[in-house]
Amino acid sequence: MTFRPILAACALSIGLTLPAIADDDPAIAARQGQFKLLALNFGVMGGMAQGRMEYDAEAAQTAADNLYHLTRVDQMVLWPEGTDSDSVDGTRANISIWEDLDDFVEKFGALQMAAESLQDVAGDGLDEMRAGVGALGQTCQACHEAHRDEAS
Ligand code: HEC
Repeated sequence: MTFRPILAACALSIGLTLPAIADDDPAIAARQGQFKLLALNFGVMGGMAQGRMEYDAEAAQTAADNLYHLTRVDQMVLWPEGTDSDSVDGTRANISIWEDLDDFVEKFGALQMAAESLQDVAGDGLDEMRAGVGALGQTCQACHEAHRDEAS
């Protein structure tokens, strides 16, 4: 009987002394994993576009298909309020995402559209793929400039 109130008191004090419970929010690791997957597939085509890898239509198409599907994942669960870099450690998600959510959603929409266009042409030849890769890369950059903190 006497243990219960003690445990309850401990739980309370732990809760009160941890400043940022959301540091462990699984949404942060999940969205960072999503971007790692995007970058990995983007890198395959980027390497071909820059001549560091020989163009391979099948590999390019596979990477573009992956990008297309990755950008269809609903983003709702990945960006809970309170997981910005002002509030918690371990993220580069700027508070501007939540302050100007319309802009963030629009920039994610641009990524989705560019991924769809790239999927249409990635297997058609190096020049076609290269143009699509360039357009896609601009959508990554635009959002990072607006909504991602500098690497520390
Ligand atoms: C709509 C906005 C947006 C778009 C579009 C976007 N990113 Fe990001 N990206 C972010 C934000 C915000 C973070 C920081 C996430 C965090 O740390 O919680 C991030 C993080 C990353 C990271 C670091 C992941 C890690 O390990 O922590 C990589 C790599 C990355 N993005 C690559 C890309 C690539 C490649 C593209 C385009 C194909 C892209 N991003 C498009 C917003 C975006």
